[in-house]
Amino acid sequence: MSEHHSIQLGVNVDHIATLRQARGTNYPDPCQAAEFARLAGADGVTVHLREDRRHIQDRDVFKIREEVKLPMNLEMAVTREMLAIAKSVSPHECCLVPEKRQELTTEGGLDILNQTNELAAFVAELKNEGILVSLFIDPDVAQIEASKKVGADIVELHTGTYADCCEPEQQAKELERIKVGAGFAHALGLQVNAGHGLHYQNVVPIASIPELVCLNIGHSIVARAVMSGFHEAVFAMKQMMNGARLESESDGT
Ligand code: PXP
Repeated sequence: MSEHHSIQLGVNVDHIATLRQARGTNYPDPCQAAEFARLAGADGVTVHLREDRRHIQDRDVFKIREEVKLPMNLEMAVTREMLAIAKSVSPHECCLVPEKRQELTTEGGLDILNQTNELAAFVAELKNEGILVSLFIDPDVAQIEASKKVGADIVELHTGTYADCCEPEQQAKELERIKVGAGFAHALGLQVNAGHGLHYQNVVPIASIPELVCLNIGHSIVARAVMSGFHEAVFAMKQMMNGARLESESDGT
């Protein structure tokens, strides 16, 4: 890990795959996006292999692991299927998340308190493979303590409630919860990450929390990339079409 005063960015490339899956094409490629993220200074790449495979596919995980020289954070549900995949991919770390089929995105953190035995065994299996284990939890002191007890190396504090707040006072309260949680987890010797729903307008107060080591951010980066690249993309298409016309006119066809 780098010095205390710096903060890392893990870029989540799931929604590059969302765009591809919408048409069943072979582009855009999340592996290529991960490489662009590396070149732009990202410290890690995150992929969530969901049980319903709605965006990232198994082949993406293996390809990124093989081709992109960034530590991989594999987000996954606590299932035997995912455990087997994690063992064969061997990512730098696995982030265990709750998963419901109908949800639009991960809603709420993992409930560690109510499944300590099952989670302790699952965490141990990953750690035996040399994989760091992160638990995605709400910034709640009891959940943080339980994460330490089940053997996690890292907690990722869920910033979704903070991000969704419409009222400034409510958001300030949520920010405080995250600050307290980060301090508490750090004092227990856990690495503290955070993520979900962070964007260009709400990231600064979170990035200022000194105990946070890494922020995992996806949707807002992909959304901005689409908009900032749109002008160039339209321009290139129009140029190509005009070029085709000019060529066919000069051929006399
Ligand atoms: N961290 C975790 C554990 C997540 O599940 C997600 C969404 O996949 C993120 C971070 C990134 O969230 P967003 O796409 O809203 O930036």
